[in-house]
Amino acid sequence: MENFVFAYPTKNYFGKEAAKQALNAELPKYGKNVLLAYGGGSIKRNGIYDEVMALLQEQGKEVTEFQGIMSNPTYAKVQEGAKLCRDHKIDFILAVGGGSVSDCCKAVSAQAKLTSDLYDYEYQEKKIPQDGIPMGVIVTAAGTGSEQNAGAVITYEEKNWKGALWGTPASFAVLDPYYTKTVPQKQVLSGAFDTLSHCMETYLGTPRQPNLSDRMNEAVMRSVIENTRKVAKDPEDMNARSELFWAAAMAENGILKIGKVTDFQAHMIEHQLGAFTNCNHGCGLAAIQPALYRHLAPAARKQYARLARNVFDVNGEEADDETTLEIALKGIEKLAAFIREIGLPTTLTELLGEVDDAMLRQVADTAVITKGCAKQLTPDEIYAILQEAK
Ligand code: NZQ
Ligand code: ZN
Repeated sequence: MENFVFAYPTKNYFGKEAAKQALNAELPKYGKNVLLAYGGGSIKRNGIYDEVMALLQEQGKEVTEFQGIMSNPTYAKVQEGAKLCRDHKIDFILAVGGGSVSDCCKAVSAQAKLTSDLYDYEYQEKKIPQDGIPMGVIVTAAGTGSEQNAGAVITYEEKNWKGALWGTPASFAVLDPYYTKTVPQKQVLSGAFDTLSHCMETYLGTPRQPNLSDRMNEAVMRSVIENTRKVAKDPEDMNARSELFWAAAMAENGILKIGKVTDFQAHMIEHQLGAFTNCNHGCGLAAIQPALYRHLAPAARKQYARLARNVFDVNGEEADDETTLEIALKGIEKLAAFIREIGLPTTLTELLGEVDDAMLRQVADTAVITKGCAKQLTPDEIYAILQEAK
């Protein structure tokens, strides 16, 4: 087990009408000027905007709106939000949306307090922002768990780059499963797969001897698979939606990562695919992950076999390296079958339509790949994986 220090600053308000409870309890702690941030307008169509605005007005807040945060938020949008914060002397940011709105606001919060450019500050000066405008998130689409941590995934269009920037973690998060009822079913399922992916990328890290974090992770993964199936059959199943909502938070609040080094190579490849194609994140992972795992499993066969046994119910004796790998690969086939069953794309062609090899080559050459837990991937290996996923 690795050494760790664990605490996280986000207070979670979960359940029906949690927004009212949270905003009444939390907003009085902050100043008058609130930035209300949201996406392309879903919150106006489903009534969440009116509810939240009424709660803000009841408390006499001066509201500045920051709207139009796109899926896969851009660095330019972060700068736009930071300027609004400075111009309107914002005291508190309230992000209302999915992972994209939450991510954009975490970066806005940090950028607004910095005199230097956030990207340069982190990637050239190699510093992590220590200050930010306080913020809260009302999550309207489950999956990323973005509201649980400080990482923001941002697309820097001019650099053809999609990657992580450190921002400000939310001091509170509202998770009302009823707020997710209007999310398109495809997004519900891609969000659920994103959660499963976060769990797997954590589980397939190191160390590999059985440990409490992995045992808890197995329970979360089994729950995600079970409840994704339920929601795929019956989108009105509120209990299953609730379970998926909390699982998404659990996958990214750090608890399952305690004592572990995680392997987020699927994410790093998918993010770079997103930089070139703007594809949906959960769907991109679904298309890539089985091919990637077939490639990595031989280098970490025991852990992949453990995943196959304890999460995908694969049986068989691990008599030697070869039979262990067979079990690992059967688990990956069950993962691929699960993706097919819930109707997410199983290939890049299904995801993107026509796939340009030159673009895949660029993705492979520019993906920021840290030292993986199973093996360090080269650009040629990533290209081969993307070809297999095609
Ligand atoms: O923009 P609006 O109009 O709100 O519509 C959104 C968007 O079109 C819609 N939506 C959200 N809540 C809704 C709703 N539609 C109807 N009713 C509601 N209640 O859903 C669409 C997708 O939203 P988005 O926020 O883009 O999706 P998601 O939550 O999957 O976030 C994706 C982004 O998060 C990043 C991804 O890379 C991607 O950029 N990630 C962030 C992570 C983090 N910070 O920890 C971890 C993840 O691995 C991921 O990389
Ligand atoms: Zn993800």
